[in-house]
Amino acid sequence: MSKKKALSVLLTAGLVLSVNGVYAQGPEGAPNSNAASAFDNKIIKKISADNMYNTIDSLSKEPRAAGTDGELKGAQYIKGQFEKYGYETELQPFKIYDVIRNNVSGLVEIGGQNLNPYVFSGSYSGEVTAEVMHVGKAISGTVPDSVKGKIALIERGDITFVEKIQNVLNKGAVGVIMYNNSGSSNAFGQASYGQNIPAVAITRVQGLELVEQLKAGSFTAKIKVSGSGFLEKTSYNVIAKMKPHKNKDTGQIVMIGAHHDSVPGGPGANDDASGVSAVLELARVMSNMPIDTELRFVTFGSEEKGLLGSYHYASTLSSEEADRIVGHFQMDMIGSKDAGGDNKANGLIMYTIDGKKNTVTDLASAAGLRTALGEVVPYGQLGRSDHQPFHELGIPAALFIHSPLEPWYHTPADTIDKIDKNKLQETAEIVGAAVYQIARPDTPALEHSRVAPKPVDYDFENRPPGA
Ligand code: BES
Ligand code: ZN
Repeated sequence: MSKKKALSVLLTAGLVLSVNGVYAQGPEGAPNSNAASAFDNKIIKKISADNMYNTIDSLSKEPRAAGTDGELKGAQYIKGQFEKYGYETELQPFKIYDVIRNNVSGLVEIGGQNLNPYVFSGSYSGEVTAEVMHVGKAISGTVPDSVKGKIALIERGDITFVEKIQNVLNKGAVGVIMYNNSGSSNAFGQASYGQNIPAVAITRVQGLELVEQLKAGSFTAKIKVSGSGFLEKTSYNVIAKMKPHKNKDTGQIVMIGAHHDSVPGGPGANDDASGVSAVLELARVMSNMPIDTELRFVTFGSEEKGLLGSYHYASTLSSEEADRIVGHFQMDMIGSKDAGGDNKANGLIMYTIDGKKNTVTDLASAAGLRTALGEVVPYGQLGRSDHQPFHELGIPAALFIHSPLEPWYHTPADTIDKIDKNKLQETAEIVGAAVYQIARPDTPALEHSRVAPKPVDYDFENRPPGA
């Protein structure tokens, strides 16, 4: 059964009744109430903002930049906590590549003259001497086979640097000289790991001159690059699973995530030790709860390098497994005193990739009404965090964040003293109540219960995060 179908069966079974795609859960015997149900209370009464604060304090003592010892220490701390709570845990390693620029020097020599090029970020270090061939913008499908063994002279523009290098590399080029498509600068360009030919940049004037010279006859160039390349490092995801009892298993999975890496040099108290603290606290309070849905708590590494950990994790899911995931709740920056402005819901917003409501936002917005916040949570459209790869797999996913962001975002001042326990508590209660609404074991039998569904209405907000 597909996850969407399975969930709609669950819904019609009476877990929650969908009205215009919006649903809420009142307490037993109290139809249409927005008060917390006995099931909500099993979770929310146990959530401790003090525990969360202590987690943030432990994690934010030093930066946790991707691939550093700080990240590994943080990941091991998180794993240890999951283990303490009785979860099956895994430290999932993956390779990342950091650009090296150590006394970088670059040279393009033509007819005894040095063009003093800029070395592409991440360019392979090496030396080649070969004939130069102009290949225009190096758009795929337009690069001739005859560039093989030659240095490709490329015009900047229309497609990415990495794509241009790859298009000529695929045809056997041995070096890249790229000229600007406007202005007078030569400072641009980046190569990707594994593109093992030197790549340098020159100005537009220099490039057009070479194009003219080539019309008059062929010539060779020498490119020499040193001090540039990539350093391979290891980053980690931390995964904790709790499977339901065999005879109570719906086969579904619900995921709760955050990222544990910080930006280099930043303690990342709010970004995103705060999200990790909620993941750990929800893992703690749910560890002894009866469930009929697998719970998966994951903290991702290398989010700040471009969602690398969550993309890696998503790539390890079989399609059968991805199909069983009914929701991904991502918490990223959920505890800043200085975020959220005077927006409703204390600044909390749920961002989806497509700007549409989904199961996650429906359940969580309704949970907002029955928990400490006491209000529905609005939703909006934004990527920029680990909900992206799950959305791309067709999994309902949302980012929980306070928006607009605090001024300390991505600075060394993102420290524990800026954390607001109330915001932590409110957000963790919402996600906890929403998740447990899916995971609680009575759900398939709920068609016979007196639980009354109460739909909630919540708004789209065009709220830019401001950084
Ligand atoms: N915690 C932020 C996510 C964020 C930032 C959400 C601003 C909304 C507004 C995250 O850690 C981050 O900084 N993401 C990067 C993008 C990522 C793909 C490297 C960003 O937003 O610059
Ligand atoms: Zn973040």
